[in-house]
Amino acid sequence: MDGDDERYPGPLRACIRDVGAALAHCAGSEPALLAAVGDAMRRLIARDDWLPAACAQPHPQYYRQYLLHLDPARRFSVVSFVWGPGQATPVHDHLVWGVIGVLRGAETVEDFALDASGRAVPAGAPVTLGVGDVACVSPALGDVHRVRNAFDDRVSVSIHVYGGDIGTIRRAVYDTGAPGRKPFVSGYANASAAQAQASTAAPGPRADD
Ligand SMILES: [Fe+2]
Repeated sequence: MDGDDERYPGPLRACIRDVGAALAHCAGSEPALLAAVGDAMRRLIARDDWLPAACAQPHPQYYRQYLLHLDPARRFSVVSFVWGPGQATPVHDHLVWGVIGVLRGAETVEDFALDASGRAVPAGAPVTLGVGDVACVSPALGDVHRVRNAFDDRVSVSIHVYGGDIGTIRRAVYDTGAPGRKPFVSGYANASAAQAQASTAAPGPRADD
């Protein structure tokens, strides 16, 4: 299914087209790419009438990541992150560029750096992003962070675009008390829908690559 599929909400279709254009025009310049994708994200989250309800459902215990779109060439994916009250990620990396926009509520981001022993140590003060705010991650900018719902009494939702099939990338989580990375593959909460999209996309890396 590509970004012109009429089953997609209009604002999401427009964002997918914009990200495809950004990839075509900004090859070789990550800052230019992130700026263009950031503009596309701001347009996407400027309205809140398009996210399918099925991709905005919180889980009572865990934050959820729903796949909204996988580029047929696996150059990028679009996901919704749904945070129940007080929910948080572990400290984690991404290994690809990412653009994050807050659609509902707010989330607090803590950046980390890896010291010489591989331990994740705080890098700067936490930042809280509210509705309409956009932020970026990438291995070049800083790729390790922890994110939590800024609210303890309500759901928050953010939309993310990543430079790959983020649910299948073998990345890592970090224990802030000890050195070392622990392998981590996030998957998608809507696994059957994700499987359907993956079946029409270009082959991804094999599990034993
Ligand atoms: Fe993240």
